[in-house]
Amino acid sequence: MDTITIPTAADMHIHLRQGSLMNMVTPYVAEGGVSICYVMPNLQPTVSTTEQALAYKAELEALAPKVTFYMSLYLGPSLTPEEIRKAAKAGVRGVKSYPRGVTTNSESGIESYDIYYPVFKAMEEEGMVLNLHGEIPSDHEKNVCVMNAEEKFLGHLKQIHTDFPKLKIILEHATTEAAVNMVKSLGDTVGCTITVHHLQLVVDDWAGKCHNFCKPVAKFPSDRAALRKVIKEGHPRFFLGTDSAPHPSHKKEGPEACAGVFTTPLVLPYLATILESFDALDQLRGFACDFGRAFYEVKDEKWVGEVKLVRTNKDFNTPETYAFGGEGVDGESGKVVPFMAGKALAWKIASIN
Ligand code: NCD
Ligand code: ZN
Repeated sequence: MDTITIPTAADMHIHLRQGSLMNMVTPYVAEGGVSICYVMPNLQPTVSTTEQALAYKAELEALAPKVTFYMSLYLGPSLTPEEIRKAAKAGVRGVKSYPRGVTTNSESGIESYDIYYPVFKAMEEEGMVLNLHGEIPSDHEKNVCVMNAEEKFLGHLKQIHTDFPKLKIILEHATTEAAVNMVKSLGDTVGCTITVHHLQLVVDDWAGKCHNFCKPVAKFPSDRAALRKVIKEGHPRFFLGTDSAPHPSHKKEGPEACAGVFTTPLVLPYLATILESFDALDQLRGFACDFGRAFYEVKDEKWVGEVKLVRTNKDFNTPETYAFGGEGVDGESGKVVPFMAGKALAWKIASIN
């Protein structure tokens, strides 16, 4: 098989940033073969109100008119059940929860879920999605660190699902076998996104290699095997959310050591290459196109194209960098190093119609 034709994909977890970085990244959504994406709210300031979400959406649409942007709000103390109802009416699709301090711009993240139960109730009634960054903060006294932070979070997922069985909940960017097993064990209202990079990386690939560092971190080979297996099975509650999270290279390479892997420009070529490596190319369409749309019950997509992927002779390489800025937008400029920079990919996009 040397060509694959599928609909444009759905990326149900993406960071599109602000300012000059947003200007660079956003047009690449469609180039990577994606026509609908669910946009993360961890900007500065965070996207916490309906107005902010709609204003951000308008900026993104101006940069990528064909793409459908589903927006999210940032869970925090200022979010009320009234705001949830307003947001739902305005088409905001969900709410993202970041535990405090575990990742980029999560300083105002949450410390306890109980106080948000009125918000969750309103979300359940309005059919909104709750997106969970599934890690608890490191606590060395209690032997919690990045390697077990996701597994130790899973009790929260189960509890919220038990208390709100009709609320659609997504465990975002799962990295562990334990997470796969937990999501499988729960009801149909619980979904799970898996990134491109977590299907490829294990802990050895990011320890000391800053461009593969992201939160949650890639874990053991057995965990990666579990992520691969659930995709091979074609489980419909496990779908693509790339968590593409670009940072300027100087911020990843310097003392800030920002977490995040950038995959947006080549989502489908990466995915086809990696799925084929574990004999799951036949699941590309379900995982990347169908299951996410079904879970989000997408009905109002502006445009769905047809993507034709062709096999390369391993003569198609990921760019080393993507430059941004220099347009006087916000004075920021630099370059972003993408996932698998400079490496050959087995598939590339021949056309998108
Ligand atoms: C994300 C970012 O940079 O915004 N980073 C990451 O490593 N995934 C934040 C997040 O989603 O955790
Ligand atoms: Zn993310």
